[in-house]
Amino acid sequence: MSTLIEQAHSREWFYAFDLPDGSTPPTYHGNDIQAIHDTRWKMLDGCLRQRLGDERGSLNALDLASHQGWFAVKMAQSGFSSVLGIDARKSHVDDSSLISRIYGLDQLSFRRGDIHEQDPRDLGQFDVVLMLGLLYHLENPIGALRTCRALCKNLCVIETQIVPGMSGYVDFGSYQYVRPLKGSFGIIDETDDTHGPEASITGICLVPSLDALLWTLRKVGFSSVDVLEPPDDAYEQLRHHKRVMVAARI
Ligand SMILES: C[S@@+](CC[C@H](N)C(=O)[O-])C[C@H]1O[C@@H](n2cnc3c(N)ncnc32)[C@H](O)[C@@H]1O
Repeated sequence: MSTLIEQAHSREWFYAFDLPDGSTPPTYHGNDIQAIHDTRWKMLDGCLRQRLGDERGSLNALDLASHQGWFAVKMAQSGFSSVLGIDARKSHVDDSSLISRIYGLDQLSFRRGDIHEQDPRDLGQFDVVLMLGLLYHLENPIGALRTCRALCKNLCVIETQIVPGMSGYVDFGSYQYVRPLKGSFGIIDETDDTHGPEASITGICLVPSLDALLWTLRKVGFSSVDVLEPPDDAYEQLRHHKRVMVAARI
């Protein structure tokens, strides 16, 4: 029977995992893409340290769209007492479960689920909720942000692609009811790509502008919302403001 590490080497990975024996199993996008994960972990870890301090042993975390578990592993290794990862794709749950066994991280668990079906009455609430790389794959991003708020006890970190925004005024029914735009959403078609491991599961994607994201986060109940500064060596999408990481506090 093959060892767990042999099983990891027989699969292809989105992330360049450094396994405990010093090896890295094969990745399917090549190693260049790893820069986006490293940048995001650097930003996330700095945000957690600044807002929660270094002591994470009494805190739990939820990773929504946990994919193959790379961020959940980092969270567990950085000291969180328990980390739950949820992803819509069963293959990702299988892969991330294998990874957590390889690292021997008993405080990590994974389950399959659609973000739109998550409910705090079943899951409880978490000190930290992560939603990285998911929002722009969803047809109901506002519902997903409401879910993040419902599941969050303290801090929610959202990382997403954004689209250029529209601003201005709209005659909302008549010229007597003029309303300012609070942001906008761009429609992206992933309907032919739903087989892709990183893609939307329905194919209809509504991507927020930065204004739309910040405005919606406040409206669904977060009291403060900060856009995190990317480091100088950040992956180009973050450096050039095509993606943002946002910290939202209860
Ligand atoms: C671009 S990947 C991001 C993965 C990881 N969070 C990261 O930032 O590296 C998008 C992930 O969202 C998952 N996903 C797509 N639609 C979902 C949904 N409705 N509910 C939960 N997960 C979903 C996909 O299976 C995939 O793992």
